[in-house]
Amino acid sequence: MLKTITVTQNLELLGKYRYVEIQMMELMGSWAYTIVEPEIKIGFGRQMYQDAVHADMLGKRLPELKGRSEHFHYIAPSDAFVKLLEKIWRAEDTLRRMVALYRVMKPALVAAYEHHLEHAELPADEPTAYILRNILAEENDHGEWGENIINTLIISPDLSRVSEKRSADILSAGRMPALRNEVLPSQLAAQWQQELENDLRDAGGIRGEDKTPGTISFKKTHPYSKRPSRDSRWKIIENDAEFTEKNWSFDNDDGKRRLLHDLLNSEFITVERMGRVLADFPEIPWQMKMDMAHQAWDEARHAEIVQRRLEELGGHVGMFRTSCFGWEQDVNRPDPLERLALSNMTFESESCKHLRDWIVKAKKAGDTRSVQLLEFLLADEVNHVLYGTHWVDELTKNDPERRKRVLAYPEKVLTEHHPVGVKFEETTYERA
Ligand SMILES: [Fe+2]
Ligand SMILES: [Fe+2]
Repeated sequence: MLKTITVTQNLELLGKYRYVEIQMMELMGSWAYTIVEPEIKIGFGRQMYQDAVHADMLGKRLPELKGRSEHFHYIAPSDAFVKLLEKIWRAEDTLRRMVALYRVMKPALVAAYEHHLEHAELPADEPTAYILRNILAEENDHGEWGENIINTLIISPDLSRVSEKRSADILSAGRMPALRNEVLPSQLAAQWQQELENDLRDAGGIRGEDKTPGTISFKKTHPYSKRPSRDSRWKIIENDAEFTEKNWSFDNDDGKRRLLHDLLNSEFITVERMGRVLADFPEIPWQMKMDMAHQAWDEARHAEIVQRRLEELGGHVGMFRTSCFGWEQDVNRPDPLERLALSNMTFESESCKHLRDWIVKAKKAGDTRSVQLLEFLLADEVNHVLYGTHWVDELTKNDPERRKRVLAYPEKVLTEHHPVGVKFEETTYERA
């Protein structure tokens, strides 16, 4: 007879799976802004949310199994496992990062879920099996997506060798760096995979077999960031003062292309800054993380939608110069609420006003395709403003000093930097 998993064993295993799902989400969040390839940013935006949902489903099963204490919700499989995660987090190039996530960690997670399902006490523990089957199906999809990306990186090695540090050079040079031909990307990927698989085995795997749960942790810290990474097609404005004219209009295709082009960059920025909130502040409330991850997913979809519409209208990425205004003032702030006050409550509130205006104009112009898409974007953006107002209200309700500082921050940025088209006195905080 197959030995089945007991209630007590379940509690510890679910806590470990939940830990790994959250760590995967934080790794993607930490890396997104340093990654050059837009399809990876979009995939990360989507999967940050899906991994958050997996962690959420596991977290809901724990109290049903009498695991009410916080301790059961987040169990590192072993100290060696934590060290392995830190090693992966420090990997600088996209190929190593992708191999670590999609050829090592996610397959190990899939194997752990399959093992659990084979040993589940059924029908007694059907609720756990139900959750794991759902997560498993999605993790398999992630694996397939990741494998495709890895294969592309191996075939086009100039992309796979781009590192966090060198991406800054790409931005200034406006081209991909030359390849250093020491090892073939396929060999590099295979060696790295082998090394991590050995480490993972020594760490006791996802289930931390024969190991005591980990007690150590590491912080995913980031250096000061001037702007996120973009591929060589983008022409990024170095000095924000040069960004003087938006020329947005719904009267002609040129004006539409200009606004969609600016919007596309903002959608990427918002995937990236949500990732940074998740990676930078692991201590924020769980529901806030769910909201931030949801927003990362929304913005990833927006990027896809906006790029498609831009191309339908004969446009392409890089056809205009682009400003990353606001990035530097957002992601370098040590208080996540200052970031939300500036970007969600101010910039996204401003963009709701623009979207409403564009919808009216697109209707007048008979551009029903744009109307359809803009209405979906607006619905999401209203929620993003609400995430900002809700979490600022909630987390400062007993801290008037912090509240004052947080709400004063956007005004400070706008007076010091005068971004085109945003005036502080016009900015109203949206409420439901
Ligand atoms: Fe958006
Ligand atoms: Fe948004």
